[in-house]
Amino acid sequence: MATKQKWVIFGDNEYAITMIFETLYAIHKKSLEISIVINRKFTPQHPWNEDLHHIAMVNEEDFKADRPVFAFLAGMSPDSRQFLWKRFDKDRDNIVLPSLIHPSVVLPHHITIEEGVRIEPNVTIAPYVSVGKAALINRGAIIGHHTTIGDFVNINPGAIINGMCHIGAHTTIGAGTIINDGVVIGSHCVIGSGSLVTKNIPDHTIAYGSPAKVINTHS
Ligand SMILES: CC(C)(COP(=O)(O)OP(=O)(O)OC[C@H]1O[C@@H](n2cnc3c(N)ncnc32)[C@H](O)[C@@H]1OP(=O)(O)O)[C@@H](O)C(=O)NCCC(=O)NCCS
Repeated sequence: MATKQKWVIFGDNEYAITMIFETLYAIHKKSLEISIVINRKFTPQHPWNEDLHHIAMVNEEDFKADRPVFAFLAGMSPDSRQFLWKRFDKDRDNIVLPSLIHPSVVLPHHITIEEGVRIEPNVTIAPYVSVGKAALINRGAIIGHHTTIGDFVNINPGAIINGMCHIGAHTTIGAGTIINDGVVIGSHCVIGSGSLVTKNIPDHTIAYGSPAKVINTHS
């Protein structure tokens, strides 16, 4: 008989929660008996909870007895994912923070993926890529060979990060942005959607355009 596992989705973002659920379902179908527990504190009104009888809605306190749990971080921005990470990191004896990769993702050899990462459908990753903890790679993004992606990074849908790039921790790459080979983007940056980044971008910078220009720096 299948072992019942406790899968817990924590977060504040409806879209992220839905994507996590869909990915778990795509991986396991009905071969595993899964109960998903969504924290009401973060998601007080969930539109689809009534329809899906295999999702139990409980408060965080209600499942303390069921440790260890497998927790998924349903935050979109680097800030919200880091907030969730910190919440669970202090309780690591009881909580596992698995990475969640949709089955449609192309994953080659020699890649490193840290804990708490989420990779959405139809992402393509080339060899020798490393992805830092709790990073999020949204649907359809392409990551070139030997590129490194820092902790808590958010790569939005359809972005193309070419080979040998580095994306610093806590940076957001806008939807549909293209980053040329070998470009280094600093930490805590925001690269606007649809940009073409041809040169390195320093830490704590907002940049956008084609070619991307530094618009602002922030602390
Ligand atoms: C870069 C970004 C953070 C700037 O946001 P903002 O500071 O609120 O910018 P505003 O909307 O006030 O626009 C300010 C100016 O920048 C321009 N601008 C904003 N984003 C731009 C972009 N990505 N490319 C080119 N110009 C842009 C605006 O046209 C405006 O120009 P104007 O002053 O001449 O009128 C935001 O536009 C962005 O691109 N975010 C990423 C969005 C994304 O990828 N979402 C994915 C969802 S899944």
